[in-house]
Amino acid sequence: FLLVISLVIIPVNGGYDKERDALLKGTFPQDFIWSSATAAYQIEGAWNVSDKGPSVWDTLAHQDNNRDTGDVACDSYHKYPADIQLMKQMGLKYYRFSISWPRIFPTGEQQDGVNQDGVDYYNNLINELKANDIEPMVTLFHWDLPQALQDRYGGFLNNHTTNTTVIHDLFGDYARFCYQNFGDRVKYWITFNDPWIIALEGYGIGNFPPKHRDPAEGQYKAAHNIILSHAKAYHIYDDEFRAAQGGQVSIALSCDWGDPKYPDDPDTVEAAERYVQFFVGWFAHAIYKNGDYPDVMKATMARKGREEGRNSSRLPEFTPEQKAYINRTSDFFALNYYTTVEVADSGHIVTENPNYFSDMDVEKGHAADWPQTPFTWLYTVPWGIRKLLGFIRDEYGDPDVYITENGRPDHDRDPAILMDMDRICSYMMHTNEVMKAYSLDNVKVKAFTAWSLMDGYEWLPGYTVRFGLYYVDFNDPDRTRYPKASSVFYKQLVRNNGYPE
Ligand code: NOJ
Repeated sequence: FLLVISLVIIPVNGGYDKERDALLKGTFPQDFIWSSATAAYQIEGAWNVSDKGPSVWDTLAHQDNNRDTGDVACDSYHKYPADIQLMKQMGLKYYRFSISWPRIFPTGEQQDGVNQDGVDYYNNLINELKANDIEPMVTLFHWDLPQALQDRYGGFLNNHTTNTTVIHDLFGDYARFCYQNFGDRVKYWITFNDPWIIALEGYGIGNFPPKHRDPAEGQYKAAHNIILSHAKAYHIYDDEFRAAQGGQVSIALSCDWGDPKYPDDPDTVEAAERYVQFFVGWFAHAIYKNGDYPDVMKATMARKGREEGRNSSRLPEFTPEQKAYINRTSDFFALNYYTTVEVADSGHIVTENPNYFSDMDVEKGHAADWPQTPFTWLYTVPWGIRKLLGFIRDEYGDPDVYITENGRPDHDRDPAILMDMDRICSYMMHTNEVMKAYSLDNVKVKAFTAWSLMDGYEWLPGYTVRFGLYYVDFNDPDRTRYPKASSVFYKQLVRNNGYPE
């Protein structure tokens, strides 16, 4: 295949150059990490076995009779040994999965009781991974907040401006328990997955549970609490576990890239920069740079506050102590990349009922020739990941970067399609861009993670959208898994550690 591409491209471009070489062939560093990922609610099922408590996703899924639920999902709670064999077949050395907080603490609070079966499940999963020479990377929070914490404390809206916020302490207790029980074997921890989505979708726009709709302030309050809860979990590891366990802690940030629609127009370029700061910088600036929100975000929100006749900005402020506490609370930069948007300046529109995107003052679009996927927001734009990686290198002091998710969805089809060439192309092109970032731009990329190991519960669209390297038959009580062509491709990628000559 590569030979064919070479034959087509060489005569057109004439001669070799370094960049094209990196595109067509080359290998990653010896210790490069190839991984794949899942999340508890998306695959485990067993939603109410033993004493597991309900999460906000259980609640949402059960509210509406027509909605798919994660009650059984892929039934990985029972089938995890077989899943580990799927990883083995692809030669993976790493697996990223998440722990369900309410499976460990049914109400989210340790004092109310621990579900020992849940603890056993994760111990067994981790032991089985280790026995198969697969390194676990564990996400503590992949969206399944214990329902009781939402009911009792408002979840991540809890007292966001005080120093004694209950949710920080409870997240810290949960993190501590996980470090204590699993940290002898787990060396990579991710505190939160996609905080941007938790904050915006859960507490701003309100499409995701707990469906709190407050687009003026909800996302900013929730994000504030998430950043502080993350910092707490980081410090607990640092103070109590790092010396003995020697692991690393990070936070996986959704990182869409924003590219200017009119690159020669300074306002458009500024709008794209603003977009990236509101997206990536909202969390990364505080955690990797100086403990605070990006300047452009603070200035934009302060101006809006004045225009809206408020006494203060809708963006909360961190105290100096909090800034010091948050600053540099990550050991590597973990990112999920799916897409790029084309950004233009919206002309500073202020609406009566502002939503999140009007706060950014940008218009988002896409170029006509970007391939679309079943998700309206997800265009396949592989070069965006290279630009993003260059931005991270320059903006956040050249950190180690772990790509903790990248993938491509397709529709559920009957009959099933196992020859998923679109997904293969997507992985091929994205990993090539990652290789360029590594070898030509000197970005310290350490890992690439395919989302996802297998088809799972894709949140609001349920089982209608599939991301897996393995196909899961959700009509089959056994939830049989079938390899898609992309799993064979990924296996070759891992075995060759890239694209050797
Ligand atoms: C990112 C999320 O982390 C994951 O749970 C989700 O399935 C993928 N995006 C695809 O939407």
